[in-house]
Amino acid sequence: RETPSYAIPLPSALYAPERRNSAGLDLSDENTLRHLADAFLTQAPTSADTQGERITNPADTNDIVGHIRFLSSEETDTAIARADIAFAEWSRAPSDQRALLLERAADALEAETASLMALIIREAGKTLANAVAEIREAVDFLRYYAVRIREQGSQTRPLGPVACISPWNFPLAIFLGQVSAALAAGNTVLAKPAEETPLIAREAVRLLHEAGIPEHVIQLVPGDGRAGAQLVGDTRITAVLFTGSTDVARLIQKQLAGRLNSDGTPVPFIAETGGQNALIVDSSALTEQVVADVLASAFDSAGQRCSALRLLCLQEDSADRVLTMLKGAMQELRTGTPERPDTDVGPVITAEARDMMRAHVDALASQGHRVFQTDLTPEAASGTFFPPTLIEIGSVSDLKKEVFGPVLHVLRYKREAVSDVMKAINATGYALTFGLHSRIDETIETLKKQSHAGNVYINRNLVGAVVGVQPFGGHGLSGTGPKAGGPLYLRRLLSQKAPMEAA
Ligand code: NAD
Ligand code: ALA
Repeated sequence: RETPSYAIPLPSALYAPERRNSAGLDLSDENTLRHLADAFLTQAPTSADTQGERITNPADTNDIVGHIRFLSSEETDTAIARADIAFAEWSRAPSDQRALLLERAADALEAETASLMALIIREAGKTLANAVAEIREAVDFLRYYAVRIREQGSQTRPLGPVACISPWNFPLAIFLGQVSAALAAGNTVLAKPAEETPLIAREAVRLLHEAGIPEHVIQLVPGDGRAGAQLVGDTRITAVLFTGSTDVARLIQKQLAGRLNSDGTPVPFIAETGGQNALIVDSSALTEQVVADVLASAFDSAGQRCSALRLLCLQEDSADRVLTMLKGAMQELRTGTPERPDTDVGPVITAEARDMMRAHVDALASQGHRVFQTDLTPEAASGTFFPPTLIEIGSVSDLKKEVFGPVLHVLRYKREAVSDVMKAINATGYALTFGLHSRIDETIETLKKQSHAGNVYINRNLVGAVVGVQPFGGHGLSGTGPKAGGPLYLRRLLSQKAPMEAA
């Protein structure tokens, strides 16, 4: 098929040959697991600080991971002033030099994989596999934006101090994804991590500084939503990168609507937000593959991915077959201590999040919807766990807000109603990920076109987009674009110059 003429040309090589995606670790190798177990025992970095906010382990709420002091509003103000001053020099640094520093930080991250994994697991409750993937993605972002700025560097002009506001569910990868893009483009950064996971962010900033990025060029602003709002409202902040809930994105947008940058232009705002991600499975699909992909899409990371599957739509002819097999497979999932290699599902982030999931499931159950829940392991009693859960619903409109955990809704549909189901999915207004399992070419082509989602998956799972390979991000209530880990992202963080000299 011909490429339409309006397509944006992608560079032929996404990475310089020597800079490929991070290899990660092979967790099927016994020696690697032994090495990790030793490293976890000896290297788990706890904060020497005993001052400030206490950060506890969601898998064992008696385990204090560390402390961090939230900045006061005066300290945040000083940090912004420093970033403003540091901008003059950083923005003039050759793009190649900025790229080199980011690549150095990527190498350092890989070298410290074991201790960073230990911290991610304790602070965010990630399983071993998820912790490896998190570090790989963070490394990939650093290297990807380094390559991109080398290509674009000499014809660009950065903006100024940029606020990066990130969530807890990818506390290293999304944190560093935002930060590395803003730094690569030549901006200085005030990085506000989620209040649940500031310790891994502190380690990331340490590594950036040790790689040679000046202290005031990237500053951590530990704090809660108020610190984020202070950054957003400050007229010295020239752009806002936000990943988190749709509700908070709306608040930020309202706040930004009230001000302009000093050149009179609107403040660039990138928001990457929530989803109501659906998978349609018709009766031609391969049941075993569907079950494996549903498990990965709905319950990996304890469902705490923006990309995670929330709504499974089953053609009624094959629904019972899929559900029987799916429930059997769900019962095999091990929900417990995340650092155990045989654990599939770790904790959810807080007791509050768990209680919201409980309330949601209880409300649907009390309305007569059938609920299927798996068992927790005994060790789950020490933390904030929620069992993988499946609930049958009667209509897409039964989905209200995003439920950010291992809760999967199931809807049966009649073959002739598939387009109506697709319309109802689009009508939620969220458009992040969408999946289809079908072996009918016509269905695939039609639904691929009809879906509004930013990332569409055919006959595979819905999670784990790879930086530089599959840029990630949604539309509508799911985000503003441009996609993270894609060629357009940096352009929102700089303005382009087009110099021309007379011959
Ligand atoms: P959240 O919106 O509660 O918080 C995100 C960040 O915003 C935190 O750092 C928080 O302190 C800050 N914040 C809160 N109030 C603020 C305000 N008024 N002004 C400025 N900053 C403020 O989200 P969360 O619970 O940390 O993360 C989970 C959400 O993130 C889910 O909705 C998930 O779908 C979404 N998410 C989206 C993507 C994506 O790429 N689309 C990726 C990961 C997570
Ligand atoms: N980028 C993450 C994924 O694709 C959120 O699952």
